[in-house]
Amino acid sequence: MAPLACADCHKQQDAFSDIRRFSEGVDNQFGDRQAMAVMNLAWHKNGLFWDGRAAHVRDQALMPIQNPVEMDETLTM
Ligand code: HEC
Repeated sequence: MAPLACADCHKQQDAFSDIRRFSEGVDNQFGDRQAMAVMNLAWHKNGLFWDGRAAHVRDQALMPIQNPVEMDETLTM
C-alpha cells in the first residue's frame, strides 16, 4: 500500500477530521478512534488527542508517524 499522508485521515473537506467511526491506517488496519478536526492547536491547553495524552503539538505529531496501525514509519535517519 502507498504511504499514508496526515490528510488521508484528517480530511480537508471534513474540517481536517475523519467522518468514519474508526480511522483507517496502513494495510487496511483500523485504530480505536476517529481523527478529530485539527485546527487552532496553538490554543489547546488541556493536551492533545481525545484523552489529552500528548502535551504539545510536537509530541503529538510524532505519534501517528510511529503508530503501527496508523503510518507505521520510523524516525531513524
Ligand atoms: C491513520 C489515520 C491518521 C493519520 C495518518 C494521522 N492521524 Fe492524526 N489523528 C488520528 C486519530 C484517530 C486521532 C485521535 C487519536 C486519539 O485520540 O487517540 C488523531 C489526532 C490528531 C491530533 C490531535 C488533535 C487534538 O485536537 O487533540 C493531531 C494534531 C493530529 N492527529 C495530527 C496529525 C498529523 C500531523 C499527522 C501526520 C504526521 C496525522 N495526524 C496523521 C488519525 C490519524
